[in-house]
Amino acid sequence: WILMATGRTPTNIAVIKYWGKRDEALILPVNDSISVTLDPDHLSATTTVAVSPTFDRDRMWLNGEEIPLSGDRFQSCLREIRKLADDVVDEKKGIRIRKDDWQKLHVHISSYNNFPTAAGLASSAAGLACFVFTLAKLMNVKEDYGKLSSIARQGSGSACRSMYGGFVKWTMGRDAWGSDSIAVQLASESHWNDLVIIIAVVSSKQKETSSTTGMRDSVETSPLLQHRAQTVVPGRILQMEEAIRSRDFASFARLTCADSNQFHAVCLDTSPPIFYMNDTSHRIISLVERWNRSDGTPQVAYTFDAGPNAVLIAPNRKSAGLLLQRLLFCFPPPADDELTSYVIGDKSI
Ligand code: DP6
Repeated sequence: WILMATGRTPTNIAVIKYWGKRDEALILPVNDSISVTLDPDHLSATTTVAVSPTFDRDRMWLNGEEIPLSGDRFQSCLREIRKLADDVVDEKKGIRIRKDDWQKLHVHISSYNNFPTAAGLASSAAGLACFVFTLAKLMNVKEDYGKLSSIARQGSGSACRSMYGGFVKWTMGRDAWGSDSIAVQLASESHWNDLVIIIAVVSSKQKETSSTTGMRDSVETSPLLQHRAQTVVPGRILQMEEAIRSRDFASFARLTCADSNQFHAVCLDTSPPIFYMNDTSHRIISLVERWNRSDGTPQVAYTFDAGPNAVLIAPNRKSAGLLLQRLLFCFPPPADDELTSYVIGDKSI
């Protein structure tokens, strides 16, 4: 027999960034972060997990290609989920799996992303969250999403925030073992559904410095990182929660842009410095800043993760349309290593 489960998990975009760990093994961050989860139709991972007594080892395929499941991160998520697994009974197929059986049974995992991997679009977040969510479904894990988020966190920090839709906060927690370092939903998918997210794919190449390596170097060498984590982010988190609660786009945009810029300033403050953005990214920032300033109130927010692609957030469809017009005017596609495509996501998150 063979038993399968499938899940789909969208990626999330941080508006207050996670950058830096206080515990590398457990993936515990140095500050809280807040993100918005995208609509699953646009940027998501879909994972199918199968279990059968005929499988002789755990195996995994990513976008159709087998990848080694030896990495600590997948292994630690798998181990944690196995510990929480429960009895599964499928009368129709005559399948009975007792919770202790899960320790001996092997799984095959197949995952697909519908967007460029490792291009700074947080594909690992969707992938690992989906991995944990689907395994938990297959193994009949009864824990709540908070607990599942803490397991996904051990796969990739930002993954814990993809466990929920809408606006999500990852609280850094204080416990040395990370029991309180979990994701919580701040507002549901429908809370602010006028927002439109446009991702300008500046480059779909693999990034040169992974987030994991980059943030390790920043923790070790950047004095700005300590200042940011201890004195800047706590206040910003409170302001961002309030901006989201009251759907205050001007405040939301100011905080989002400022936090993205500070994160990239920390990267520059790292030794050796890390450059995730390129000239095209900088030109997009200038374009948005000029527009926002000429209107007196922010029309668009921008944020960049560990790569050059711009995530642009507009308050409604009208502003999003104007933004696209301006982008297409300044960056007519196709152009070499300039903007090559736009992914338009209705943030009906
Ligand atoms: C810039 O979650 O990819 O996207 O925990 O080492 O797997 P690891 O890092 P990862 O880092 C994401 C960093 C970021 C900001 C964010 O998503 O908050």
